[in-house]
Amino acid sequence: MDLDPGELHPNKVYLHLTRTIMPRPIAWVSTVSPTGVLNLAPYSFFCGVGSRPPTLLFCPANRRDGSPKDSLANALARQEFVVNLVPYPLAQQMQLTSSELSPEESEFELAGLETADSVVVGVPRVRLSPVSFECRLLQHLALGEGPGGANIVIGRIVHMHIDDAVLNDSGFADPELLDLVGRLGGTLYCRIRDRFDLGERP
Ligand SMILES: Cc1cc2nc3c(=O)[nH]c(=O)nc-3n(C[C@H](O)[C@H](O)[C@H](O)COP(=O)(O)O)c2cc1C
Repeated sequence: MDLDPGELHPNKVYLHLTRTIMPRPIAWVSTVSPTGVLNLAPYSFFCGVGSRPPTLLFCPANRRDGSPKDSLANALARQEFVVNLVPYPLAQQMQLTSSELSPEESEFELAGLETADSVVVGVPRVRLSPVSFECRLLQHLALGEGPGGANIVIGRIVHMHIDDAVLNDSGFADPELLDLVGRLGGTLYCRIRDRFDLGERP
């Protein structure tokens, strides 16, 4: 099959993207609204960008009515956010936090999740996430207007929290101990259970 995305409805393009680009890591983004409400939502159009400067990005598409999602609106308003990673035991709670709540309601409360204070930014992290990246907004790129319009939010990582319990002897996170989930298409997810080691390049 060969497809010209310009000929497809954006919903179809979305479905082809999310059913081919996988597994996708999940940024569980915590933000605080201008009125102080804690917000939490998962974003799987997410990746690390680089180490100089330490950066990552996530991509909140506009809502069907063309308005920005709360995570984007809050990150723009406060210039800060935290990206928490999602271990298997928190997968169901993560999914719950994708509910579209009003900006005055908190997904932390909905999913019964505890917060922990961040070290540098004023936005709390998810206490039970094994890894949290505290970020200051570096850049926001609006690539598309209106409903479904694509946005890129680039964060400069100003503090990293990595739970000691997931570290191996060399002081780095161990995939087995992290037990993170990735998103496939729709409601399908995966765990990093099937690994292989290619060894050194010949
Ligand atoms: C695992 C998962 C990954 C998601 N990834 C994205 C994404 O990359 N971009 C996006 O716009 N929405 C994504 N969503 C949907 C948002 O989480 C959802 O629209 C949420 O209500 C946004 O919340 P907010 O308005 O509080 O930011 C994802 C949902 C799930 C369950």
